[in-house]
Amino acid sequence: VSSAERFRTARRDPGVVLLEGLHAIKHALRFGADLLEIVADDVEAVGALASSLAPDVADELRRRARQVDWVEGVAAIARRPVVDVAAALSRPGPVVLLEDPRNLGNLGACVRVAAACDIAAVLTTGRSDPWLPDAIRGAAGLQFALPVARVEALPESERPLIAIDPSGDEIVPARLPPHAVLAFGTERHGLSDDLLTRADSCLRIPMRPGVSSLNLATSVAAVLYARRLTER
Ligand SMILES: C[S@@+](CC[C@H](N)C(=O)[O-])C[C@H]1O[C@@H](n2cnc3c(N)ncnc32)[C@H](O)[C@@H]1O
Repeated sequence: VSSAERFRTARRDPGVVLLEGLHAIKHALRFGADLLEIVADDVEAVGALASSLAPDVADELRRRARQVDWVEGVAAIARRPVVDVAAALSRPGPVVLLEDPRNLGNLGACVRVAAACDIAAVLTTGRSDPWLPDAIRGAAGLQFALPVARVEALPESERPLIAIDPSGDEIVPARLPPHAVLAFGTERHGLSDDLLTRADSCLRIPMRPGVSSLNLATSVAAVLYARRLTER
């Protein structure tokens, strides 16, 4: 199989991750991804860009990237990590649960902010795979920085389950339990009745009257950073 064919099929291969662009590849290298292959349309230009934006990975990128004429910019294939969900749930800090997120860019933005806030894990339910190329692009490759997995349903754990929903009580970030599972709903319909029933509490982010909801990734960012900034 040619290298071009491997990159073409990587898009749908559940065993590997396709990384497009320098930002995703930079984070993958920094956070220990097992990169199998890197290709670029101009290795010298990509190396120069890396030297200015990500000097810590520039040498490795220059050394490993192969110049090809069928890619635009830089792309890589990494082995997809196997995520141990039980181990992820026992890591310190809150877990983000995204119930059936539909927009992969939005999903990626949630992973990105969760990685920045050093969250224990991001779990998703529903059809969207958080490791698909558009989610990787949205997260700038930060799936490699923390456990990220799709699950059939939220596994049982000792963690309190907190529904983040516009119908809840106003959130007091400093009072969020440090080991909560923070659950966010799907873009169109919000959290399911099942999850709202199971939740130990339901909290809202205050909004001006007339505004019905925030974007999913914006809500995740607001809650994670509000909590994080109370720790300073
Ligand atoms: C785009 S919203 C879903 C809108 C949906 N029509 C609803 O009313 O829940 C996606 C998710 O972001 C979170 N969200 C958005 N605005 C929120 C707010 N003001 N308070 C709490 N959660 C919010 C919720 O988890 C919600 O399920």
